[in-house]
Amino acid sequence: MRGIQLRVNGRDYEHEVEPRMLLVHYLRERLNLTGTMVGCNTSNCGACTVLVDGQSVKSCTMFAVQASGRGIMTVQGIATNGDWHPMQTAFHENHGLQCGYCTPGMIMASISMLQENPSPTEPEIREALEGNYCRCTGYENIVKAVQQVAQGS
Ligand code: FES
Ligand code: FES
Repeated sequence: MRGIQLRVNGRDYEHEVEPRMLLVHYLRERLNLTGTMVGCNTSNCGACTVLVDGQSVKSCTMFAVQASGRGIMTVQGIATNGDWHPMQTAFHENHGLQCGYCTPGMIMASISMLQENPSPTEPEIREALEGNYCRCTGYENIVKAVQQVAQGS
C-alpha cells in the first residue's frame, strides 16, 4: 500500500491505496464520486475524463498514486453553490445527452477545451472531443452546447 494526499473538488483527502489502483476507481470506490463513469477502462471512450491540475485526463489512464499532490476536479465539483456550471446548463438546454453515460466526461473535456481555446470553430470542437465517444446523440447537440458556452450566451 502507498499513502496518497490529494485535493478533489476542493476537499483534501489522505488514503492508503494499492499502487495499481486507477484514479477512476479511487474516485468512485474510495470517495464515492460515482459521477465519473467507467466506459471502457482502456483509455478509449473518455467517460472517465476529469481535470488534473486543470488539464483534461482520462482517469483510467492514471494510477491514484500518480495523482498524489495534485488537484482533481470531477463533474461533481463544477457546480457553484448548487448552481450548474455553464457547460452543464448548455448540455441541458441543447439536449446534448440522451442516456447520459458519456456526459460527465464530455462536460469535463469541453471545459478543458474552452480553457485552451475560448473561441473554437466547429471543426476544432469536434477534433478536441474526438477522444470522447457518445453512442446516442450523434454529437450535433453536444457541439451546439459547447458553442453556446463559447459564445457566452
Ligand atoms: S473508461 Fe477511461 S477512457 Fe473509457
Ligand atoms: S448520451 Fe448516451 S452515450 Fe452519450
